[in-house]
Amino acid sequence: MAEPSKIIEIQVLRYRPEQESVPVWQSYQVPFTEDMSVLQGLQHIKDEIDGTVSFRWSCRMAICGSCGMMINSKPSLSCQTFLRDLLPGPVRVEALAHLPIERDLIVSVEPFVKKLESIKPYIIPKEERTLAQGEYLQTPAQLEKFEQFSSCINCMLCYAACPQFGLNPDFTGPGVLALLHRYNADSRDGGRAQRMEILNAEEGVWSCTAVGYCSEVCPKGVDPANAVNQNKVNSALDYFIRFLPKKGEPA
Ligand code: SF4
Ligand code: FES
Repeated sequence: MAEPSKIIEIQVLRYRPEQESVPVWQSYQVPFTEDMSVLQGLQHIKDEIDGTVSFRWSCRMAICGSCGMMINSKPSLSCQTFLRDLLPGPVRVEALAHLPIERDLIVSVEPFVKKLESIKPYIIPKEERTLAQGEYLQTPAQLEKFEQFSSCINCMLCYAACPQFGLNPDFTGPGVLALLHRYNADSRDGGRAQRMEILNAEEGVWSCTAVGYCSEVCPKGVDPANAVNQNKVNSALDYFIRFLPKKGEPA
């Protein structure tokens, strides 16, 4: 990294439950270079200025999904957002919107993980398969149906972007609905009927009002709004199929 020659102001919305009843802004003057991310700016604050600032990170390369925060009011990965693009500052960072703040920039992931567990985010085989039968094979066309949605890194930026989730925290929400579609659209999966219950529920896909900001902020190009639209089609089909006569019944 080159020698820092400039200073940028980073304002952090602090919340330490043992000393603040509401979050408060705190400003830091941070020396920076052209190649520094917002995450590196925060790490400089923590290492050199104020060790009490709390935030999450791990991979530093937009893979783990743990460094999400609001940067100048936009849900962003702090490792993927560069200070040079935010000049002249100040840069305002705060915890992801719509999620319970635990401390400073750290939100609780528990509500999201519960939703994720509920949709059974794994392949439920259609039938028992022995080792001797070998691996499941898929055509490129079958893979294309779900591949994009399997890029989700569970960063929750789409939840911070979603006004409906802001109004109703029980809404299943864009990221989890995208993953639900990822498994339902997989030719190897047989769990669709189990997941449709969640999709059709009050907090399911019909709570979405198609704002589309979730897809704009997604750092991996998952396009959860597209997944939600496909889920709406599947939910509507599921509803109408109930009225079709079953095999052997008079039409
Ligand atoms: S859909 Fe995109 S924004 Fe939402 S959790 Fe997954 S990677 Fe993050
Ligand atoms: S630190 Fe892993 S996504 Fe930013």
